[in-house]
Amino acid sequence: MPLPKAELHLHIEGTLEPELAFALAERNGVELPYADADALREAYRFEDLQSFLDLYYELMAVLREEADFEELADAYLARAAAQGVRHAEIFFDPQAHTERGVDIGTVIEGLGRALDRGEERHGITTGLILCFLRDKRAESALATLESAKPYLHRLTAVGLDSAEAGNPPGAFAAVYEAAAALGLRKVAHAGEEGPAAYVREALDVLGVERVDHGLRCLDDPGLVERLARERIPLTLCPLSNVRLRVVDTLADHPLPRMMDAGLLCTVNSDDPAYFGGYVGDTFHALRDALGLDEERLRELARNSFEAAFLPEERKRAYLAEVAAYEFE
Ligand code: ADE
Ligand code: ZN
Repeated sequence: MPLPKAELHLHIEGTLEPELAFALAERNGVELPYADADALREAYRFEDLQSFLDLYYELMAVLREEADFEELADAYLARAAAQGVRHAEIFFDPQAHTERGVDIGTVIEGLGRALDRGEERHGITTGLILCFLRDKRAESALATLESAKPYLHRLTAVGLDSAEAGNPPGAFAAVYEAAAALGLRKVAHAGEEGPAAYVREALDVLGVERVDHGLRCLDDPGLVERLARERIPLTLCPLSNVRLRVVDTLADHPLPRMMDAGLLCTVNSDDPAYFGGYVGDTFHALRDALGLDEERLRELARNSFEAAFLPEERKRAYLAEVAAYEFE
């Protein structure tokens, strides 16, 4: 039995496996510029975040109908459950779909259908996090939030993702304020490729409760101290960092140093279909590359539930599962 854990940084569009992409392409009459799934997988060699995003957005063309989003989310939940995920807070990028003429309701209702069955079918509780694309204008983010209002009951939080360099979080202050007024929680990608100053800005201007990635906080010792003192969770994605060349190798990942500095670190998979593994695979890879012992792995699992947007009672129940877990 795998270690129970929560996944807090997972883009549902980043779980689109090549085989499913080709199946959906055929079903929807979409032409893909790759001969087959293997040829597509061959293209997964990235220079940086942007080179990944180009392919990630291109492949979304196969997602058109409610049933496509449902199938995508159901496939993720099945894989995640097999790797010990008990709770998942799942990002989606509505603007990447509405721009292609797919209605936001199609996206949310499709994902929602799979998530509604998540607990019964896969034993996973879920939340949905609507992400704004930071390389689009703030007006587009505001219009997206407005269009999501009929589906508010399905949403847990808002997030901010896409190309970080040159796109500081502060531009989205008004939409974050509007989201908070609607009762949504707040997270944002910051400090993945962008500077530590973007992490500070996400905290101070957007008021985020969790920072996605946040790795570059290490360039600012005062910020590290603050994140540790305020117990602000970081949702780290080590396999993503290697594939997008944010760190050289997994053995070089600063995770142990960050835990030693008192940061509330969690481990997540980001875009597992593209980066070589789901979250259980990531735990195993970290154990092997960094020599994390059982207590460190248990601490990461504990952190994942502590950082989750879950009611206290549910959190306590999951934490009890982590405490009782026996490593094989
Ligand atoms: N969208 C999907 N994955 C992302 C990442 N790692 N950073 C920013 N935006 C993303
Ligand atoms: Zn991400």
